[in-house]
Amino acid sequence: MENLKKKFTKEFKKFNEQRQSIRRLWNINEKTAKFLYSKTLEISPKNILEIGTSNGYSTFWLSLAAERSNASVDSIEVDKKRFIMAKENLKNRKNVKLHLGLAEEIIPNLNKRYDFVFIDAGKIDYINYIKLLINKLKENAVIIADNVVSHKETVQDYLDFINQNPLFESEKLNIGCGLEISIYKPQRS
Ligand SMILES: C[S@@+](CC[C@H](N)C(=O)[O-])C[C@H]1O[C@@H](n2cnc3c(N)ncnc32)[C@H](O)[C@@H]1O
Repeated sequence: MENLKKKFTKEFKKFNEQRQSIRRLWNINEKTAKFLYSKTLEISPKNILEIGTSNGYSTFWLSLAAERSNASVDSIEVDKKRFIMAKENLKNRKNVKLHLGLAEEIIPNLNKRYDFVFIDAGKIDYINYIKLLINKLKENAVIIADNVVSHKETVQDYLDFINQNPLFESEKLNIGCGLEISIYKPQRS
């Protein structure tokens, strides 16, 4: 991974500068980014979906991992300023498609089935995203939700849903702000 940091020095420098100078980008930390990257490599997904692009920092890491398995990344952002920053930051990433708008409106119109999903948008809405996503998931899809420790109470209905639902196997990881990692197992129902 340090090779990647060297290869993309310019890009990482820009993300760092933006993180330090612009408020409310809410980027994941580097440890979480590296975990996402490794997990993506491990499962070699074809179709990756991210909910909550911000300026594209986590999208950039997902895109680097996706390249290794010829995968594509769809990422959704509702805030126009952050969306425009992400467009610029990711302009050289051929495997990324950015969507501007509310995830709740965009997800139903996505025509793919996903095998890797990263949820990092409005915490109170995680429950809505997963309900909309279920029929867009491939068997054994991996869903990672951020902030399940830092915003435990706000995401509690998501955690209850995913932990009590026989369609998912799920566990919490103490990485960054807390990640819930869930695997979709439709054959068990
Ligand atoms: C925590 S930030 C994402 C950070 C990004 N994943 C990263 O690590 O670089 C959450 C983003 O989700 C966006 N967001 C919140 N609710 C949303 C929704 N319903 N649909 C789409 N985007 C949403 C916010 O505008 C914000 O930019």
